[in-house]
Amino acid sequence: MSEVVSYEILSGDKGGIAVISIDNPPVNAAGHAVRKGLMEAAARFNEDAAASVAVIVGKGRTFIAGADIREFGKPIMHPVLYEVVNAIEAVDKPVVCAIHGTALGGGLETALSCHYRVALKSAKVGLPEVHLGLLPGAGGTQRLPRLIGVEAATDIIVSGRHVSAPEALKLGIVDALDDGDDPRQAGIDFANRVMNENMPVRRTSEMEDKIASARGNKALFDGIMASVEKKARGQISPIKCVEAIKAATELPFDEGMKFERDAFIELLGTEQRDALIHAFFSDREVGKVPELATGAPRPLDRAAVIGGGTMGSGITCAMLYSGLPVTMIERDEESAAKGRANVEKILDDGLKRGKIDQAKRDRLANELYSVSADIADIAEADIVIEAAFENMDVKKELFERIDKHAKPGAVLASNTSYLNIDEIAAMTGRPQDVLGLHFFSPAHVMKLLEVVVGAKTLPDVTATGFALAKKLRKTAVRAGVCDGFIGNRILERYLTQAAYMIEEGASPYEIDKAVVNFGYPMGPHQMGDLAGLDIGYANRKRLRDSGWNGRYAHEHMDRIAELGRFGQKTGRGVYIYDQGSRSGREDPEVLEIIDRVREEKGIEPKTFTEEEIMRRYFAAMVNEGARIVEEGIALRPLDVDIAMLYGYGFPRWRGGPMKQADIIGLDKILADIREFEENDPEFWRPAKLLVDLVERGENFDSLNKKAA
Ligand code: 3HC
Repeated sequence: MSEVVSYEILSGDKGGIAVISIDNPPVNAAGHAVRKGLMEAAARFNEDAAASVAVIVGKGRTFIAGADIREFGKPIMHPVLYEVVNAIEAVDKPVVCAIHGTALGGGLETALSCHYRVALKSAKVGLPEVHLGLLPGAGGTQRLPRLIGVEAATDIIVSGRHVSAPEALKLGIVDALDDGDDPRQAGIDFANRVMNENMPVRRTSEMEDKIASARGNKALFDGIMASVEKKARGQISPIKCVEAIKAATELPFDEGMKFERDAFIELLGTEQRDALIHAFFSDREVGKVPELATGAPRPLDRAAVIGGGTMGSGITCAMLYSGLPVTMIERDEESAAKGRANVEKILDDGLKRGKIDQAKRDRLANELYSVSADIADIAEADIVIEAAFENMDVKKELFERIDKHAKPGAVLASNTSYLNIDEIAAMTGRPQDVLGLHFFSPAHVMKLLEVVVGAKTLPDVTATGFALAKKLRKTAVRAGVCDGFIGNRILERYLTQAAYMIEEGASPYEIDKAVVNFGYPMGPHQMGDLAGLDIGYANRKRLRDSGWNGRYAHEHMDRIAELGRFGQKTGRGVYIYDQGSRSGREDPEVLEIIDRVREEKGIEPKTFTEEEIMRRYFAAMVNEGARIVEEGIALRPLDVDIAMLYGYGFPRWRGGPMKQADIIGLDKILADIREFEENDPEFWRPAKLLVDLVERGENFDSLNKKAA
């Protein structure tokens, strides 16, 4: 048979069993060769007098993990998956599917076309196409509702979540669970059962009972659509999923399949699909950094965290949740007690939310975690993470002390969001062991970790930073040393641009609205109110006190903070928060403050459209991103994308700022920058890399590809 699909006959209890095995490492993606092989195997089994039941099973670590994503966007090659699954279902003798690992997307669709499904207990199933800007395109939207009903199917298809085998059994997606760890044997055992119990061919496409009540039920689908539209916020594919599920209830099966197919092809052509698949592969590429090829991570069995404030306690809890024992160091007993209280508050919150149970909460708080006022207690730690106040002198002094007490070979990390790691490392006698680990607040929640590699950092130290991220289930992005690294450096640019636009006439509310409509969960001022406006105020004050004297457009924010309006925590910031409310309403006094600042500066306000706001906000992001890649601070444009997706709320369905810039066209972005440069040459000098790429007719993704 084909190289990736094999066919063998075994003798079963009451006849032959055809075992059809898929062997296409690493995840048995249903690329062209697999599809062709399965099509041929289905036809062969149908004609094969020597076999009365077939078992489809994956070799290696998983059943089919879906269509081959690398084929999307390329010319379509027949047989396509929906033709294959229809052919499997049409076979006249029972076909059993044995699932292990993950049966996702086209993998689950293949399983749904089989007449029976058995899964190992550890297996997971799901239809995650929506995360790729698609909908299940091989019958998933037509067969799953027929099997488990509209509501359950909609939940699985629209969320794209992975469903555990026990839940899949409960829902009726699989018929049986197998306790063993051999999917082939599980399939053979089930095939024998089919023979012994004379189980008939049973086609999902012919099941109508579960969808009968939803047929013509306008209220049901209106309700589903309203809630999906609210959550989808600008995304096309979740809407299409609901339309296709609705079609399953209204159209005969074949027509429903055609509806789904047409929608799938339409979605394949969208920018959102392009962006989301870029994000999928970037998630995997971002971890491929040169240091990992040369350095194996150092041991990571025990950690110490210096500082028990917001960052220190968040980092501590992230490590505790991963099972890593942590010693927290504070400067005195009183602060140590506060540090413990901060950690316990996070753990108690985890308990309340059901993330951990009481026993685990107590084990983490009492066995894995300890706090001390003596820095000598870092001696046992494999990694020491300093999470003290963001101040160079404080950090330098701490690193001198850390150097004295940490054991030889320990990795010494500073959790800093802006500061120069090389200066900090120079305070120790072992700068090769020092790196930056920039966590994001709240550190036990946020997925991003910038791993900042200093001039002397050894490859195995960088590799340990990546290994820690993996242990904490975070996404690590490699960054070089500069003020703000990747994320905060870009953030500073677009926040500055927002402040300029406010000075020139836009309101903070207009800016937030434009940014939210672009796809962010919140605008920069809503974010500022959430984080606390006192933080930015203190930073700006420090910057100005240190002699910085560029164009300053934050007077309105300073005045709001000086009135004691620090955001949500004081009930008033840029927005007003009515008692108990977390969504603010606009504050006319803030607009008055801004008007006054403009008057004092002699600025005649102009109006901004949403499009104008986003053009400037976005161009600021891309220009700085390009500069960061040009300087080698980020390895590739995709590293910038991942940092902005996981740390700053950039909408994933836009792929990240660099990918979005490719989609819009770098020539257009450069033209915008040149237009803005005419009024403000200081801010808008175009990045050389951007100019070069436009001249060469290339884009950011061509740099990603060259680096791969
Ligand atoms: N197509 C092509 N390559 C794939 C792939 C797929 N469906 N799924 C994974 N890969 C690649 C990864 O890019 C990675 O390649 P690399 O080693 O070169 O970086 C390699 O396989 C291993 O993948 P992971 O590193 O992600 O391995 P994990 O063990 O961590 O995760 C997984 C395995 C859960 C299967 C995860 O890879 C995954 O979620 N894959 C995507 C699943 C998916 O979205 N399927 C739906 C596809 S769309 C579809 O089926 C359309 C249909 O309806 C017609």
